[in-house]
Amino acid sequence: MKLAGQHIFVTGGADGIGAAIALDAAQAGAKVSFCDINEEKGKAYEAELKAQGHQAFFHIGNVGSMASMQSVFEGVTKVFGDVNGVINNAGRNAHYDPVEMTEAQWEDFMNVDFRSIWVTAKLFLPAMRKAKKGAIVNISSIHARMSFPNYFPYAAAKSGIIGLTRNLALDEGKHNIRVNAVLPGFTLTPLLDDHFAKNPSERASALAVQPMGRMAQPSEIAKVVTFLLSDDASFVNGADWIVDGGLSGRFAQ
Ligand SMILES: NC(=O)c1ccc[n+]([C@@H]2O[C@H](COP(=O)([O-])OP(=O)(O)OC[C@H]3O[C@@H](n4cnc5c(N)ncnc54)[C@H](O)[C@@H]3O)[C@@H](O)[C@H]2O)c1
Repeated sequence: MKLAGQHIFVTGGADGIGAAIALDAAQAGAKVSFCDINEEKGKAYEAELKAQGHQAFFHIGNVGSMASMQSVFEGVTKVFGDVNGVINNAGRNAHYDPVEMTEAQWEDFMNVDFRSIWVTAKLFLPAMRKAKKGAIVNISSIHARMSFPNYFPYAAAKSGIIGLTRNLALDEGKHNIRVNAVLPGFTLTPLLDDHFAKNPSERASALAVQPMGRMAQPSEIAKVVTFLLSDDASFVNGADWIVDGGLSGRFAQ
């Protein structure tokens, strides 16, 4: 029970990697709150976690909006008290043409995939500073290290998360707050399913280059996040952890 009694908050927790993180944290003894833009799935997942005997709370919220996250912050702290750990997981893919992309699309995408890390820091850090303890885990991607054509500007947002993680780790370390990033490789979630449905030829080619001959289950990303949240990682700060089955260790051939 690595997270016994802690209040852990996850963004985008209704599905995919976020849902796996919420479950793993709950199984490690945490009270788990999560937000998502999908209210139906969020409520259903809250009920599922409760049915398994866990303490869970869902609040609708869009990480791209400060006002929305302010109400999430108020809602989750009212139910489970001050938050001990935050996982910035919500994000989406981007496949824009830099010429065709509009200013509104740029802002909309960057608000969700990049600025959201600052938004939760602004809201949740004060209580962590007061408690002199806390942990933040930011879900980046292997796109922070290497990318793929037609992903503009996803790699920029995910690389930016590494920089924000470093800034926060250096400034919050003195408050005993650790901030780390996790960089997943191909992980079997609705996001990846949707991508392969739109690009069917990529399913086989992406699988063919996996050093372990398979892609990750969301639970395999969640296990690393739980470790980083826990006291087992008490001196891990400002790190970016690749969890890609070795994929970024190879070059094209
Ligand atoms: N699946 C992969 O292969 C993979 C690889 C590397 C990184 N990632 C990253 O992991 C994170 C989770 O990805 P996933 O594959 O689980 O995605 P997913 O689409 O399967 O699930 C994401 C969840 O976040 C929610 N969400 C989306 N936008 C939101 C917003 N603005 N506010 C609140 N909730 C929102 C969705 O409704 C959904 O429930 C993302 O940041 C993604 O970039 C995924």
